[in-house]
Amino acid sequence: CFIFADEIQITLTIMESKKLYIETYGCQMNFSDSEVVASILNQDGYTLTDDIKDADLIFVNTCSIRDNAERRVRNRIQEFKHLKSMKPTLKVGILGCMAERLKENLLKEESFVDLVVGPDAYRDIPRLLEEGSDGRQMANTILSLEETYADITPVRLDKNGISGFVSIMRGCDNYCAYCVVPFTRGHERSRDPKSILTEAKDLVAKGYKEITLLGQNVNSFKWKEEGNDVNFSALMTQVAAISPELRVRFSTSHPKDISEELIEVIANTPNICNSIHLPVQAGSSSMLKRMKRNYTREMYIDRIEKIKSLIPDCGLSTDIIAGYCGETEEEHQATLTLMKMVGYDFAFMFKYSERPDTLAANKYADDVPEKVKGERLQEIINLQQESSHQSNLKDVGKTFRVLVDNVSKRSKLQMSGRTDQNKVIVFDRKDTQLGDYVNVECTSCTTATLMGHLV
Ligand code: 5AD
Ligand code: SF4
Repeated sequence: CFIFADEIQITLTIMESKKLYIETYGCQMNFSDSEVVASILNQDGYTLTDDIKDADLIFVNTCSIRDNAERRVRNRIQEFKHLKSMKPTLKVGILGCMAERLKENLLKEESFVDLVVGPDAYRDIPRLLEEGSDGRQMANTILSLEETYADITPVRLDKNGISGFVSIMRGCDNYCAYCVVPFTRGHERSRDPKSILTEAKDLVAKGYKEITLLGQNVNSFKWKEEGNDVNFSALMTQVAAISPELRVRFSTSHPKDISEELIEVIANTPNICNSIHLPVQAGSSSMLKRMKRNYTREMYIDRIEKIKSLIPDCGLSTDIIAGYCGETEEEHQATLTLMKMVGYDFAFMFKYSERPDTLAANKYADDVPEKVKGERLQEIINLQQESSHQSNLKDVGKTFRVLVDNVSKRSKLQMSGRTDQNKVIVFDRKDTQLGDYVNVECTSCTTATLMGHLV
C-alpha cells in the first residue's frame, strides 16, 4: 500500500503539478478557510507557491465586513488582471464573503475573473476548474446548512508552526443589525467534536503549542449525539486535556451567551488561556438595541464583573463601532465611560460602514456625518491607547510564562512571545528557541508591548 502511494507521489512530481497562490483578507476564519481550500486543491494536484508570478491559479479569499475591506480587494485584483494579460493561461478566483455577497455580478464587473466561490462551496472548486477549462466563467455561491469541512485536514499556511487555528463552527444566526456576516457565511452550524479533537491532536503531534478554536459565536457551539451532548465548555475541556503543554484560546464570544460555566472552566483549567475577547460594540443600551445585540449595558458590565471576580488576571479585549446609525453625543460618551469602567487591554475599533441589505441599511439612516464618525473614532482610539498603557504599566515587575512565537522585528538577538493574557513581550533571546515556554520578568513597556528579561 505504501509503495503504491509512493509511486503516485513520483508520478505527480514528474508531471509537474500546477501552482496555486492564495491571498487571504479579513478574519481568522478566512485564514482557516484558506487552509481548507489549499487542502482541497492539493488533493486535486496543485502545490502551493509564495511567488505570485509562478502561479497557474490565483485565489483571493475576501472579506465584506466593511466597505474599505472590499475596496482593498478590488484594487488588489487589478494587479492580477495585469498578470493575466502577460500569462493568458493564468486563472483567477475570488473566494469568501465578497464572492458570496456579489455572486455572479462579480464576474460581470471584473470580466477577467474566472471563478467566484462562496464559503460553503469550496469542495466544488475542482469541478468548477474542470468545467471552466474552456474559458467559461464559473460560480458557485450556494450556502449550506451542514457543511463544516469536518473531514478535511487543512494544509497549514501559518509561518511559525507554533500557533494554529481550528474552526469549530461556521455561520452566524445573530443578525446584528449592522453585520453582513449572516448573509455571507450562512446559518450557524457546529462541527462534529470528534473531528475537532482529531485535528487538534494532529496539530499537537506536529509540534504546535497553541490552538485557537474559531467561530463567529463560539459560546453557542452545540453537538447532539445519543449519549454525547457537547457544549463549548465541554469541548474546550476536551481540547485542553490533549496535552498540558498545549495552550488553548478561543474567538469570538458573544456577550449574551458567555456563561458562568464557561468562565469557571477558563478559571479552573490551567492551559486554557486567561484572555477573553468580548466585543461590546457600543456602551449604551439604546445603541445596543438598535444594533440588535440582545444585551444591555448593565448585562455586559455584569458579565465583565463575573469574569473579573472569577479570573482576576484575565486579559480583556473588545470590538467597538463608532458612529453607528443615529448615534448621539450622549451615546458616544456612554461608550467612553464603559471603556473606562472595563479598562480593556486591547480593542479593535472601527467606523460604522453601512452594508447593503442588512437590517441597519434597510431600517436606519447612516446619518452620523463622516467628520463626526472620524472624531469619535479618534477619541475612542486615544482612550484605548491610554487604557492599554495603564494595563501594561501594571505588568511591570511581574513574571510571566511566555510562549515564544517570533524573532523580534527589531533585532535578531531578541525574541517575542505571548503571555497567557495574550500580550506581546520582547526579551533578549540568549539560547531561547521558537516554541519554548520561558519565564520572563517584565521590566518596562510601551502602549503596545511589554519588554523584559529571562528569569
Ligand atoms: N461597520 C463597522 N464595523 C463592523 N463590524 C461588523 N460589521 C461592521 C460594520 N458594518 C465590526 C464589529 C465586529 C467586527 C468583526 O467588525 O465590531 O465585532
Ligand atoms: Fe456579525 Fe453579530 Fe454574527 Fe458577530 S455575532 S458575525 S457581529 S452578526
